[in-house]
Amino acid sequence: MIAQFQKRNAPSAERNKTPIGAQLKMMLPQGARVLEIASGTGQHGAYFTKLRPDIIWQYSDVDTDAQESQKAYACENSSQLKLPLQLDVTQGNWWQRLEPITNIYCANMIHIAPWKAALGLTKGAGELLQAGDKLFLYGPFLFGVDSAQSNLDFTANLKQRNPVWGVRELVDVEELFVENGFHLDQQITMPRDNYLLVFCKR
Ligand SMILES: C[S@@+](CC[C@H](N)C(=O)[O-])C[C@H]1O[C@@H](n2cnc3c(N)ncnc32)[C@H](O)[C@@H]1O
Repeated sequence: MIAQFQKRNAPSAERNKTPIGAQLKMMLPQGARVLEIASGTGQHGAYFTKLRPDIIWQYSDVDTDAQESQKAYACENSSQLKLPLQLDVTQGNWWQRLEPITNIYCANMIHIAPWKAALGLTKGAGELLQAGDKLFLYGPFLFGVDSAQSNLDFTANLKQRNPVWGVRELVDVEELFVENGFHLDQQITMPRDNYLLVFCKR
């Protein structure tokens, strides 16, 4: 396939793809079919599929400009990277009519979206995944009075840009997942006050 779309490169994704990839490389099951929610530039899927040639990666995003970049990456590895789906997790029933998947990956979305996006993500994940399947959620989180100063500053900055955005309290996120049939299997500390949360479907 000839690439006709423009790849974009986010410095943050370039930085964090290596430590996240090291974890996913170990944790994804053989032959995993991963649905990525909010793929952004598409760099994560492009890198992770190189680490794991056995997996299939489905891009998705609400934003059509982001999808153009995802298409450019997909054209470079079309046997593993699937052209993006138009998915907005705030829309009811976004999970319907999707191909079967074994895992969901979502990085850096729930703080740059209304809380409704976290609600929609967890509801859809609960519908799509089977017992034992894992969802990987990467990003910054707050821990009440023990929150990292960098994340308190970050959330103040986000709320100035949009009052419904903001770094989420981990306890609130965990509660949502529990309500939708998951348990928090692993909480992995990542560079720069980020976490990789692994939720397992019960
Ligand atoms: C900060 S970027 C993160 C991109 C990528 N996951 C990463 O970590 O580099 C946030 C992404 O969330 C997407 N997004 C925001 N609201 C969304 C929604 N309701 N449904 C799906 N994607 C959404 C945006 O379009 C954007 O691509």
